[in-house]
Amino acid sequence: MKTIIEPFRIKSVEPIRMSTPAERASLLADAGYNLFKLPSESIVIDLLTDSGTGAMSAQQWAAVMQGDESYAGSPSFRRFEAAVRDIFGFRHVIPTHQGRAAERILAATLLEPGDVVPNNTHFDTTRANIEAVGATALDLPCAESRDLSASHPFKGNIDLEALERLLAAPPGRIPVAFVTITNNGGGGQPVSMANLAAASALCRRHGVPFYIDACRFAENAYFVKAREPGWQNKSLIDIARATFALADGCTMSAKKDGMANIGGFLCTNDDEVAEHEEELLILTEGFPTYGGLAGRDLEAIAVGLYEALDPSYQEYRHASVQYLGEHLTAAGVPILQPPGGHAIYVDAATFLNHLPRELYPGQALAIELYRAAGIRSVEIGSVMFGKRDPTSGRESFAAHELVRLAIPRRVYTQSHIDYVVESLAELAARRREIPGVRIVEQPAALRHFSARFEPVTLAAAPGFSPARR
Ligand code: F0G
Repeated sequence: MKTIIEPFRIKSVEPIRMSTPAERASLLADAGYNLFKLPSESIVIDLLTDSGTGAMSAQQWAAVMQGDESYAGSPSFRRFEAAVRDIFGFRHVIPTHQGRAAERILAATLLEPGDVVPNNTHFDTTRANIEAVGATALDLPCAESRDLSASHPFKGNIDLEALERLLAAPPGRIPVAFVTITNNGGGGQPVSMANLAAASALCRRHGVPFYIDACRFAENAYFVKAREPGWQNKSLIDIARATFALADGCTMSAKKDGMANIGGFLCTNDDEVAEHEEELLILTEGFPTYGGLAGRDLEAIAVGLYEALDPSYQEYRHASVQYLGEHLTAAGVPILQPPGGHAIYVDAATFLNHLPRELYPGQALAIELYRAAGIRSVEIGSVMFGKRDPTSGRESFAAHELVRLAIPRRVYTQSHIDYVVESLAELAARRREIPGVRIVEQPAALRHFSARFEPVTLAAAPGFSPARR
């Protein structure tokens, strides 16, 4: 059969409240045109993130009822730890309430001001946690990732030559190096086993601990099986085990391929590092057998990690993201090629090429997609990665202006995706009418969560001359 179906039946449903464009326009104004500030009941299809937004299975809900909420020594922790050890293989498994808590504890344990941490692309919280301790987060994406429209099977790879140069002549201490699988900041693109093995070998040669940001490890394993010679006959769990055997530790947000609504963990093989991390854990997260989670959350993750590695689930997951990517492309919507594992990234700079980057085309597109169709997406461009210098007021800009349509796990069906395609096709037909935005208020760090915006038409943009684009 050519049709890949959702490999589940729906036992419990959550109604979607239909809102009108007029209602959404007024909510947008109240939210300062920041989609993070919208009431979620006003959203028809929520593609803001694939993080913690998935549907749990009947088996996970059953496991939730087995949750043992003892403060210390809970069997729920032992089941969680056994599942993580079985798949990831690390000696120490430290539960955290989500991925960024693992990042914060790791950064506080390993890093000092002036240190440098390379990665294929740091996710924003990883970068923020590294920078918060005065270290530098360095992105070394592979050259193929620079061309948004070029297809390459492993566009998430780290640039090995750049990594080697850095390790040979480090501008500061490098207490840890990362690779993020899949590369969320770089379009949800996979990393090959060959690239991971080479990065790991380079780090080992230079005595630098090699870590994996494992959030979407199962999606990455599926890409390896589908695309990398030599891995076709391996099971997803074997690919995952081979992946983590290359590393000294990992950080994980179980809100992604843990198939849970909350949770994360931090792993290491280093006893001393683990001891220090557990001390920090107790300080802010909780005792090492729950780390800020309820016993029931640990149970849901223990089951979910295996479900993420189910081949029919991954086949359906990839087919649905691919379907969205292919239909958007056919409708003339420019996207980052090829489709990623968890999301489609619309190339907003090309889509809205009447808007200069000073008018944030990604944010402008995300706002209009919500206003017109009730679809929430997220800007991954200069709002997220750009900065305004507090003294000079000068803006720095991101390399690309993208809008991410992240697909929650096991939540939406094909007709929801068809609605998304139709909505973007409708925007494509009148894209030149879509106004840009300016930032009217912003915090010093992670500004995309709380900045306020205001729509601006091109003619009203200060100092803008159309000739520049
Ligand atoms: N690393 C990566 C690659 C991520 O994508 C995320 C979260 C984190 C770390 C942090 O995990 O949210 O559990 O604290 N990404 C979400 C997203 C928020 O929408 O892409 P967390």
